[in-house]
Amino acid sequence: MQQPIGIFDSGVGGTSIWREIQNLLPNESTIYLADSKNAPYGAKSEEEILRLSIKNTELLLQKECKLIVVACNTATTNAIDHLRAHYKVPFIGIEPAIKPAALQTKTKNVGILATKGTLSSSLFNSTSKMFAEGITVHEQEGTGLVELIEAGKLNSSITKDLLKKYLDPMLERDIDCLVLGCTHYPYLIPLLREILPTQINIIDSGAAVARQTKTILERNHMDAQTSPTNFHKFYSNLNLDILSSMVEGPAVQVEFLDF
Ligand code: SIN
Repeated sequence: MQQPIGIFDSGVGGTSIWREIQNLLPNESTIYLADSKNAPYGAKSEEEILRLSIKNTELLLQKECKLIVVACNTATTNAIDHLRAHYKVPFIGIEPAIKPAALQTKTKNVGILATKGTLSSSLFNSTSKMFAEGITVHEQEGTGLVELIEAGKLNSSITKDLLKKYLDPMLERDIDCLVLGCTHYPYLIPLLREILPTQINIIDSGAAVARQTKTILERNHMDAQTSPTNFHKFYSNLNLDILSSMVEGPAVQVEFLDF
C-alpha cells in the first residue's frame, strides 16, 4: 500500500518519532502535522485535547493516510481511545516507557518527566500501576519545556536551569532511569546528558513506536513494498524555521498550512 503514514503532534516534538519511523521503514511516505499554533497541549483540558486530535485526524484522513501515529503523549493518553472507536484506520500511540524502565531499574526508583495532561490522564495512571509494581515512580511536570523547544532553545541556559530544577528532586530520590514522557523531550537529550550522572538511563519511546508501526502495517498487509516515489511532507500552522531545521533530508518538503 503506497498511501502515506500520517503523524501529528502539538508541534515539532513528534519529529523525534518520525525519524525513527523513517529509519525503520524507508519505503514509506509520511505526512506530518505540526500543530504548533496550539502548543502546548499539555496544559489544556481533556475536551480541548480531544477536539484538536480529531481536527488533526480528519485532516490526515483527507490526505488519504492509511495509518495514524499520534506522536504526542498528551494526545495519546487523552484521545486515542476515542479516535480508535470512531475511525477505521489503525492508530499508534505514544505511551511513556514505564515498562522498560521498571525492567531496568536497580534502585527501584524511576523518574518520569511529562506534561500535566499526560500525568493526570487515566491511561497513564493505569499503565503506570500495571507495570510499576514494586517500584516508585517519581513524577515531574515539565512545565515550560515544550515552549522552549518550540522556540528552538534546545541548548540555552534557561532550558538547562529549568531542567535542573525538575531533575534535582528526582536525583535526591535515587532514580537510575529517567523516562521521557513527551515526544518533544528527546531533543533535550544532549542537555540531559550534561546534567545527569552517567549511570542514569534516559528512556524514550521512539524506537518502540517505530517497531509497533511496522508490526501493525505488516499484520494488516498495509506496508509499502517499494520506495521510488516516496515523500515526507511536513505541514506547520506556525513558524516553519524550527521544523525545517529538524527534518532535513531527501524527499522532505516543509509547508505552511492553516489548520
Ligand atoms: C505538549 O504539547 O504539551 C506536549 C506534547 C506531548 O505530550 O508529547
